[in-house]
Amino acid sequence: MDQLVSRAAQRLRELPRGMFIALEGGDGSGKTTQINLLRQRLEAHGANVLTTFEPGATPLGHQLRELVMHGPEDVDPRTEALLYAADRAYHVATMIRPALAAGTTVITDRYLDSSVAYQGIGRGLGERAIRDLSLWATDGLLPDAVIVLNIDPEVGLSRRGEEKDRLERAGDRFHEQVARHYQEAARLEPGRYRLVDANGSVEETFTGVVTALLEVLGGDR
Ligand code: TYD
Repeated sequence: MDQLVSRAAQRLRELPRGMFIALEGGDGSGKTTQINLLRQRLEAHGANVLTTFEPGATPLGHQLRELVMHGPEDVDPRTEALLYAADRAYHVATMIRPALAAGTTVITDRYLDSSVAYQGIGRGLGERAIRDLSLWATDGLLPDAVIVLNIDPEVGLSRRGEEKDRLERAGDRFHEQVARHYQEAARLEPGRYRLVDANGSVEETFTGVVTALLEVLGGDR
């Protein structure tokens, strides 16, 4: 395992600019744990890593997150989509692009695919429209790698906490649609998307994540 991480860290150090990696997956898929592990282990091998998340990583975004996830009233789907897009625009402009330009690897917990899945499909606004909105918001910044943690719905449900936010209350059909989006994206764009089985232990999933990263980095494993 350590050898895989070491190889990935070496590749990342050799890149002229930072690699942009997004972790995606349904609620309860363990993205946060995996991102923290990835940062710790890559840093231990000398890589420069910034971990971040959407929505809400910037001061402005924090306020948008509160409004969209815990606001006093349910916002309509278009307003919701614009709030997530505004959060992403500011996140990219003030944190992600500067870090990548400085040669730092950026790993984000959710990015554009979350909007396509949740607002585009889940809320029925259309994949194309939501993707275009996000591409406009970010001036076209797409991740070099999208690692999707794939989890059976029952496992995800049992891992989720008691406190559910508004989207989490939206029901199982919603979560199935979200899962389907990620699978379809991975099928259409195998070069950038990697599906990783996240039903097992933290270490098992982590091995899958690092292997996926190495595959996208284009190296032997
Ligand atoms: P969060 O509490 O950050 O945790 P997790 O990523 O572990 O689920 O939840 C973010 C919620 O926001 C989640 O339900 C998905 C939703 N979301 C969207 O609907 N659209 C988006 O563009 C993003 C980034 C998130």
